[in-house]
Parts: sequence; C-alpha cells; structure tokens
Amino acid sequence: YLVDKGNHRHFMEKEIHEQPEVISHTLAHYLDFTQGTSKPLDLPFNFADIDRLAVSACGTAYLAGLVGKYWFERHARLPVDIDVASEFRYREMPISKKSAAFFVSQSGETADTLASLRYCRKEGVPIGAIVNVRESTMARESDVVMPTLAGPEIGVASTKAFTCQLSVLAALTIRAASQRGTITADEEKALVRSLSETPRYAAQVLKLDKQIEKVSRELASYKHVLYLGRDTNFPLAMEGALKLKEISYIHAEGYAAGELKHGPIALIDENMPVIVIAPHDRIFEKTVSNMQEVAARGGKIILITDQKGAAQATVKTMETIVLPDVPEFIAPIIYALPIQMLAYFTAVFMGTDVDQPRNLAKSVTVE
Ligand code: AGP
Repeated sequence: YLVDKGNHRHFMEKEIHEQPEVISHTLAHYLDFTQGTSKPLDLPFNFADIDRLAVSACGTAYLAGLVGKYWFERHARLPVDIDVASEFRYREMPISKKSAAFFVSQSGETADTLASLRYCRKEGVPIGAIVNVRESTMARESDVVMPTLAGPEIGVASTKAFTCQLSVLAALTIRAASQRGTITADEEKALVRSLSETPRYAAQVLKLDKQIEKVSRELASYKHVLYLGRDTNFPLAMEGALKLKEISYIHAEGYAAGELKHGPIALIDENMPVIVIAPHDRIFEKTVSNMQEVAARGGKIILITDQKGAAQATVKTMETIVLPDVPEFIAPIIYALPIQMLAYFTAVFMGTDVDQPRNLAKSVTVE
C-alpha cells in the first residue's frame, strides 16, 4: 500500500491528526453505542473465570498496557501483572492457570514481546494480542486477535497506535467489569457513553496546536525535562518523556508525582522545566502540592490540565495548557494528544528528522 503525508509536513503530524477518526473506528469495533454495552468478543475465556491478567509489551505499547492495569484493577477488580517484555521473558514469573495473557504491539513483530507471548503459550494460558498489523506473527500465534484500527503508522514515534491501544484496553476493561459483575448495567452505559465522546474531545485538543507550538519553541531551548503525573497520568508522564527523547533528543524523565521527594526534586532548578499532567481528578490536590514544591525551588512548570484544574491550581506556571473537562475514565486517551504535540513541535524546532529519528527502528525485531 502507499501512504502519503497529505497536507502534513511529517507522517507524525498526520498521524496525530488522524486520531479522532481512528479512535472512533477502533471503539466502534468493540462497543455497541446504541445499547451502551461492550460487544461480545470471541475471547477463549470468560473474565469471570480468571483471577489475574499478565500483560507484556515494549516502549509505548508497554505504557498503554500500564494505563490498562489501572483500568482493569479499578473497574474490573482484576489484578494485572505487567512488565516490559525484555524483563518479562526472562524473569520466570509464575503464571497462574487461572489467568490470561495480553500482548500489546503496533507491529506485532517486536522480538521481546513475541518471546513473552511464547513463554505464556508454554505455560498454557489463553493468549490475546492487541496489534495494529493483523497479519503479524503475534496475531498468528494468539488465540484471539484484538485489533487496533489505527491504519498504517509510518512515523517511528508511535502516536495513533497508542491511543487506539488505549481505546481497546478501555473497551476490554468494560467487558471484563461487566463479566465479573463489578459494574452495574447503568455504570457500563456511562463508561461506554464517556468513550463515545473521545473522538470529539480529541478533535478539540488538536485545535490547541498554536499554543502548544509556542510552548514547544521554549521547550526546545532546554536540555532536560521532567514529566510528572499520578495514577493513569503516571504512565502518560513516562510516555511524554519517551516521545520527547525519541524525536527531539532532549533528555526527559517521567516520574510518579509522589516520587518527586524521593530523589528527582534534587534536580529542580530554573534550567529543568517540569511538565505536569493533572486533570481535575480525585487526586488533583496531591499533584498541586507537588507543583508547589517545584515552584518553591525555582522550577518552571508547564501544567496540562482541564478548566476546573486551571481554575483551582494555586501555583504559578510558565504556561498552562487547558483541555476540556472530560470524564476521568477517558482522560488518558485525551491527555495523550498534548504530550505528542509537545514532542512533535519541539522536534520541529530542533530540526531533527521527526519521522526517522536517529538510532531508532520502527519495529525492533531483534533482541
Ligand atoms: C514508540 O514511540 C517507540 N518507537 C517504541 O517504544 C515502540 O512503541 C516499541 O518499540 C514497541 O513497538 P511495537 O508496538 O511495534 O511492539
């Protein structure tokens, strides 16, 4: 197939902009929006019959899985053991016979993820692959393929595949919660409804491009960046840092905001901007106090929040990026966009090869 950039400067920019549409396709595959339910999938097991879920993946796909862990545990009360595949494959983790294993991969060919899949296959548990390439090796070697309908992703930095992986994991969470009886029919409807609004909110966030471009111009003059977040925003903080280092080559770290005091606070000064992902959720106030600790040490804060959060954050920021107020369940999908855009514009200002960053391959098929 031939894919072109259309009116975009880079594939990455095009793929960022495709997200409202591909998220919508992906969700429609898993959810019945009219009924407000998750569709019955051809899963080789019932979520009510398992007591653990093992998840393994690499890079961005791993971070999608980590968001999934928060969702499955919170809504479906299903414990999730997740690890990066290069560790998972060697750490000889005991796999309960009453578990299932999910592998997340855009390409479906990543060597370590495939090896983890084969490890679980030997352990004899049902295997599901969340992949973007349906003809891939992982798809072939799984009991069930749960596709992301992102379309071909060309940019080495994963963007639309990530939000589609999150969409699949969110839909699977609803399925699991419904089978395990941890949500009522009304709660299921509410979760499905909130997901149905994702494409519209994502489209709104894309319109913040001018502001995000302006912040990125500034970001491009720094050598180190710290990303902070709590709960599902912790994996997002790591994803933001990963995107930034991959394509702009700026050193970035993603930390759980509560870990700030346990080390990284020593790095804070005016030369290290801190990007905080903090929608106005249950633990917003906790993140605000972390921001105050940063501000008290002369740190410069870029806050990514919503309208409520912007109104209530009593802290001086270098810039505040205000997203629409969205239901907590879908926030990780929506907040993925500004961090992708920040990395993208920063890389453009740095003049790097955005779609083909140095030293990186789109798919890591050797160990
Ligand atoms: C993402 O921006 C990276 N290029 C990388 O971390 C990627 O997500 C990882 O290599 C996994 O690839 P996969 O999804 O094809 O398995």
